[in-house]
Amino acid sequence: DEARAAEGSAFKFDELETGIDDRHHVAPGYDADVLLRWGDPLFADSPEFDPTKQSAEAQARQFGYNNDYVGYIPIDGSAEHGLLVVNHEYTNPHLMFPGIVSVVEKDGKKKAEVAPLSKQQVDVEMAAHGGTIVEIRKQDGKWQVVRDGKLNRRITSNTEMALSGPAAGHDRLKTNADPSGAKVIGTLNNCAGGVTPWGTYVMAEENIHGYFSGDLPAGHKEAANYKRLGIPEGAYEWGAHYDRFNLAREPNEPNRFGWIVEVDVNDPNSVPRKRTAMGRFKHEGAESIVTKDGRVVFYLGDDERFDYVYKFVTAGKFNPDDRAANMNLLDDGTLHAAKFAEDGSVEWMPIVFGQGPLTAENGFASQADVLIETRRAADLLGATKMDRPEDIQPNAANGKVYVMLTNNSKRKAEQVDAANPRADNTFGHIIEIVEDGGDFAAAKGKWEVLLKCGDPSVADVGATFSTATTAHGWFGMPDNCAVDSAGRLWVATDGQGPKATGRTDGLWAVDTEGLARATSKLFFRVPIGAEMCGPLFAPDDQTAFVAVQHPGDGGEDWEGFGRPSYYEDPSTRWPDFKPDMPVRPSVVAITKQGGGKIAV
Ligand code: FEO
Ligand code: CA
Ligand code: CA
Ligand code: CA
Repeated sequence: DEARAAEGSAFKFDELETGIDDRHHVAPGYDADVLLRWGDPLFADSPEFDPTKQSAEAQARQFGYNNDYVGYIPIDGSAEHGLLVVNHEYTNPHLMFPGIVSVVEKDGKKKAEVAPLSKQQVDVEMAAHGGTIVEIRKQDGKWQVVRDGKLNRRITSNTEMALSGPAAGHDRLKTNADPSGAKVIGTLNNCAGGVTPWGTYVMAEENIHGYFSGDLPAGHKEAANYKRLGIPEGAYEWGAHYDRFNLAREPNEPNRFGWIVEVDVNDPNSVPRKRTAMGRFKHEGAESIVTKDGRVVFYLGDDERFDYVYKFVTAGKFNPDDRAANMNLLDDGTLHAAKFAEDGSVEWMPIVFGQGPLTAENGFASQADVLIETRRAADLLGATKMDRPEDIQPNAANGKVYVMLTNNSKRKAEQVDAANPRADNTFGHIIEIVEDGGDFAAAKGKWEVLLKCGDPSVADVGATFSTATTAHGWFGMPDNCAVDSAGRLWVATDGQGPKATGRTDGLWAVDTEGLARATSKLFFRVPIGAEMCGPLFAPDDQTAFVAVQHPGDGGEDWEGFGRPSYYEDPSTRWPDFKPDMPVRPSVVAITKQGGGKIAV
């Protein structure tokens, strides 16, 4: 069976070995070239990156920090010339700024203490968030950044945005700075995202709770709403310098974050739109597919332990011949929450004001209220509490949908259900959905667990990789994923390490069909401390773009690197390996030596 499973694999490449060191590695026969690093200039007038002279002005003209989602929008249909769109999820000040960490000894262990940031450093952080739109071109088999491409753009925490859809202009979205409730400054914590069928870039606002600090006025009506989202966490120091991040001064501001943001990349001056019809929660991503009747379905994960899987179905139809006609499709449609039943069926429950429990009796006065508190609406509908829904990817080639469930160490034995089958789910799992009648907009579907992750050689783990999967091929903590144009699944991980799995994060090729189903092979791995984001295949399958996020982070947790990792003494100096350069999160382009499709 093992030989037949290996034989039946859709992936042809020699597997990479796992390991932990200070650089990236790719399977033999491939090149993995760094394309875009934090601080790289994007415009003719951008300053070159100088880590000792950081400013918000420079950062706003350079590639941002912690690249996560990567998308490609072809120019004139080309697979070798297009716009790369990249999210910059968050910042790691201890790895970005010199001289702010003191290493102290606590209980016999070295610990990094980070000094309060200056306002100038906070401003750099704000400019390092958001997204990048940048023209790229393949020349002689290698990708190049087109500096000063006319559509190049940085989006930051200071970019003006519009709120649109049912919640726009609602009282709960009004602030002192914006009495209209329809104009927001900036976007936060853009994790994964998507590219729409009409060629716009969508960014998902995920962990927004960290940016807010201060106390809500006593008895404030948003208290329960914010508690459900963990607001305020106060991980960032922005509230000390800007009223909009201080709940005491602007108590409604958090309602203006946690949305899906749509950007028209064809106009670098376009105002990005926060599409409130798609709900407000800790949005992981927004991958989409066109249904048979022309409507468009977006699959949406809410990345928190015991939160939900959603899908949004547009009311209008996609018009492939008229881009302008599609530009407000995301303002009108129906959001649904998933209920995974024990019998292997899934029900998509509409989140619509006035239906079921979503009424005045439960404190909702309108669809705007329902969308602002999407989680509470889904609680009332009885959606299935999942093990941290991350990226969800529809597959046009076989009609299936893959749901990454990254882990949930807090699930107790009595909380186990068919769709979340393991207590203390350290390694996560992947669910596969087939919608009824092959219609992605269907109200019901069938599901099964494609893969329980973790080391299959440890019986207690209960992993379900095929027996053809090698000791390097298994993984834990699935996060982002991609489907290439042949319909093959690639899974990126977040959270492996010496203690968790004895390996770094990376990109694995996962068979989903036939005898080889649930066979996995390692293709790429990241340097120590990093997480694997992206991934994305160019339309011709000849390039895999991957995003190496937070390289060198988490020093204390890396045994063998028994010290905190910080700017002056990082656990790696990837990707430059120069003594005066800090670690730099970067996008890497993987191509086959001599050309051709990947893993064929
Ligand atoms: Fe930003 Fe859910 O990972
Ligand atoms: Ca991430
Ligand atoms: Ca993620
Ligand atoms: Ca994650």
